[in-house]
Amino acid sequence: MSQYVIVNNLVKKYGDLCAVDNLSISVNQGEIFGLLGPNGAGKSTTLSVLTTLSDFDKGEITIGAHNIRKDKMKIKQLIGMVPQDIAVYEHLTALENVKFFAALYGMRGNKLNASAKEALEFVGLSDRQNMKPKQMSGGMKRRLNIACGIAHAPKLIIMDEPTVGVDAQSREHILNSIKLLRDRGATVIYTSHYMQEVEEICDRIAIIDHGRLVACGTKAELVSLITDAQSVYIETKIPAAFDLDEYKKKQKLMPGVKAVAIEENTIRIDVSIDQNNITRLIEQFLSLNLPIINIKTEVPNLDTMFLTLTGHELR
Ligand SMILES: Nc1ncnc2c1ncn2[C@@H]1O[C@H](COP(=O)(O)OP(=O)(O)OP(=O)(O)O)[C@@H](O)[C@H]1O
Ligand SMILES: [Mg+2]
Repeated sequence: MSQYVIVNNLVKKYGDLCAVDNLSISVNQGEIFGLLGPNGAGKSTTLSVLTTLSDFDKGEITIGAHNIRKDKMKIKQLIGMVPQDIAVYEHLTALENVKFFAALYGMRGNKLNASAKEALEFVGLSDRQNMKPKQMSGGMKRRLNIACGIAHAPKLIIMDEPTVGVDAQSREHILNSIKLLRDRGATVIYTSHYMQEVEEICDRIAIIDHGRLVACGTKAELVSLITDAQSVYIETKIPAAFDLDEYKKKQKLMPGVKAVAIEENTIRIDVSIDQNNITRLIEQFLSLNLPIINIKTEVPNLDTMFLTLTGHELR
């Protein structure tokens, strides 16, 4: 897999404040890469450096094989930015807004019109193309903001908290659109406070705090940094004559099992993360004639991970 964005030892200061502190990350071509961190972590600052809007103090950045210091213009052409603060013109209609931004990237004529309409359709605003932003709801404006950033078919889409303040339906629409953009070949860098979103759509995640990289990887890789165990909950029907103590004793001797707890008819087994362990547990239940009514596995979520890795909560 080729690396589309490579950031090495990036430092960005505002006076005495080091907003990005020696950050190194790389983003693979065609993936959704999540930047996750609390308020003030340096997410927007990093994005504004990547989009060439801000200068930086130290480090090396390559985007699409271009060096950011040498080929600013070429990099600008590759990028579509969806900013955290909605940036649309109030006196222009939705369609005019999208056309305006796509034209900045050199689109003209029929292609400009068709691409702008396609972008509006993509975010579900086709029927609002003649509306001005002030007539739109917050969620619609967010979607318009996205359309403005993607109409020129950028290879790298950078989104800064694109779902803040939108309802569940708009959010779902936006998330599905982002996955579709990736499936069509774009590389996406995505920041959010919402754990669930990042867990849901990002192929890899960088956790940042105080401008520094705390950890980076797939969700499974991040989970493995803080634990090698998963909890398996099996709901069953335990017969009165069943010897629970004996079961617990035996279970604890099985390879990979760290703890066993039984609450009413649910048996919870903490076991090392390995698909074979779940198969073995199911086989064992069947051999003991214990029915499996429900089975669910649980690994720590990004909230727990963030807390464990940084010592404080995300928000
Ligand atoms: N233009 C600026 N001048 C001075 N300080 C700034 C400027 N922009 C950001 N900062 C500071 O840099 C740090 C990082 O800010 P940044 O906006 O990058 O964080 P963020 O992770 O995007 O946070 P949020 O989740 O709130 O959007 C913060 O301490 C912020 O106050
Ligand atoms: Mg921000």
